[in-house]
Amino acid sequence: MTGFAADVLTLYPEMFPGPLGASLAGRALAEGGWSLTATQIRDFATSRHRNVDDTPAGGGPGMVMRADVLARAVDAVSPPDDARPRLVMTPRGTPLRQSRVRELAAGPGVVVLCGRFEGIDERLIGRRGFEEVSIGDYVLSGGEVAALVLIDAVVRLLPGVMGNDLSGLSESFEDGLLEHAQYTRPPVFEGEAIPPVLLSGDHAKVDAWRRADAERTTAARRPDLWAAHVERRSRK
Ligand code: 6GU
Repeated sequence: MTGFAADVLTLYPEMFPGPLGASLAGRALAEGGWSLTATQIRDFATSRHRNVDDTPAGGGPGMVMRADVLARAVDAVSPPDDARPRLVMTPRGTPLRQSRVRELAAGPGVVVLCGRFEGIDERLIGRRGFEEVSIGDYVLSGGEVAALVLIDAVVRLLPGVMGNDLSGLSESFEDGLLEHAQYTRPPVFEGEAIPPVLLSGDHAKVDAWRRADAERTTAARRPDLWAAHVERRSRK
């Protein structure tokens, strides 16, 4: 395993490791295959009431996380020469994809800032070199759950975490298609049989059925992925 180091900056450090303490990621964490440190942003506030946010410049609803407080927190866990990418979880970010997850898993770790309130002072993002990342087109109450999602996706790719089997190869997204459907015993469930080809023992026919099912499903559910797949196929 690699020594991948995740540092999370949050107002809710008790949310970590949370689900990352269970299952395969949790075992690898306990065995020292990767590390996770959650740092309380509020510890870097200096005002009497330990404020981490303030009203938005220009007016409007909600509160904005202060650049000065966040900068002290970032600088405490990540020195200027830290090689790890700095990510801030926000619905304004670039959508997270498996290609970026693979890059992160190949690196030394991540520094993840979890946004709360209406946003984060833009100067902190620029001056500390943060990349803004979203996990999808919906709004969470804060970046913590998104950070857990991102770290889960990365950690399962670390050598030795998932058991290094072949299942990583034919996963959804790895070849631009969703996965084919799966079946197991019993052969008939509530009157519905497993597609007979899957029990035929003819591996070529099984592969062809799975490919067709993956394409059918991708075209129906993800026209964006399907269009990119068709485009790639036409170039070959
Ligand atoms: Cl990364 N953060 C928040 N707060 N909401 C989100 C998100 C992130 N990604 C999608 N929705």
